Amino acid sequence: MELGLWGDLMLIAPITANTLSKLASGACDNFLLATFLSAKCPVMLAPAMDLDMYSNSATQDNLDVLKKRGITVLDSPSGELASGLCGKGRMEEPEEIANAIEDFFTSNKPLTGRKALVTAGPTYENIDPVRFIGNYSSGKMGFAIAEALSNQGAQVTLVSGPSALQNTNPDIKLIKVTSALEMMEACENAFPTVNITVMAAAVSDYRPRVTADSKIKREKKGAFSIDLIPNPDIIKTLGSAKTDSQYLLGFALETNNAEENAKKKIISKNLDAIVLNSLKEKGAGFGVDTNKISIIDSDNKITRFELKSKADVASDIVDFIITRTSK
Ligand code: C5P
Repeated sequence: MELGLWGDLMLIAPITANTLSKLASGACDNFLLATFLSAKCPVMLAPAMDLDMYSNSATQDNLDVLKKRGITVLDSPSGELASGLCGKGRMEEPEEIANAIEDFFTSNKPLTGRKALVTAGPTYENIDPVRFIGNYSSGKMGFAIAEALSNQGAQVTLVSGPSALQNTNPDIKLIKVTSALEMMEACENAFPTVNITVMAAAVSDYRPRVTADSKIKREKKGAFSIDLIPNPDIIKTLGSAKTDSQYLLGFALETNNAEENAKKKIISKNLDAIVLNSLKEKGAGFGVDTNKISIIDSDNKITRFELKSKADVASDIVDFIITRTSK
């Protein structure tokens, strides 16, 4: 039964004494029971019946059998029943059922209780009030990673350079920055309290030594040059402050000697792993919705992945982090 395989949770609300007895005995004479028997997901029940039916030992035995099989049985509160009797047997209030579902999902996620920091997008380094040095990073990969970490229960801070993307997830705290220096400040503030950091931003390596206060006029003749100074390497700064309980993952976008260069960056920036995406791969890199990655561990082990949507690539990266941080 496709439905039983598809769901993340099966809730039967209300469930009658008759259906409870069929679940306990393994009967399969209707659609609901067939779905229940083939379900691979957890099951939650909200019984609703008259007082005497609820307290009958046959019903209570059925409930015990189902609980022993790992099924969650919600309370049936006391109150006025359809028969006019007063006592236990009412279906749990819908708000309480919704709370139970929320608790179920939040307390069963692998990254519940962990904090994560993600960087995304480009940085813009201002030349004057109307011009900047930037790059083609869209922010898609970093936003997808923030979403995937949040889906697994992490409390996420996303520091993003200028991007057209919107954050629609209320559980992700988005800090918008423009320049590398602003990104650095936001990351240094967040880093001491986070467990997992993923740096997917394409940070500008240089910035103009001076940002002009007014628009620079075109020179009448000859060449024009801008004096550039290096930006701080944000991930390297965080890497040197990293403790044993913090996991730091970087990105590398290489055009030649990709794996060798990525391995060197793990050491020079004190990373736990690096995600390598080569610009040579069709469908990988800036702007597009897909990516093809390899992840290199600090012990130089390489895990290669197929070309996938950035959302699926983000899930792969987060699954990888979960396996490496739950030892
Ligand atoms: O050295 P490279 O720029 O190739 O390193 C890429 C990794 O370093 C990415 O994770 C990127 O987000 C991070 N980075 C950074 N600050 C910089 C440059 C790169 O955090 N100034």
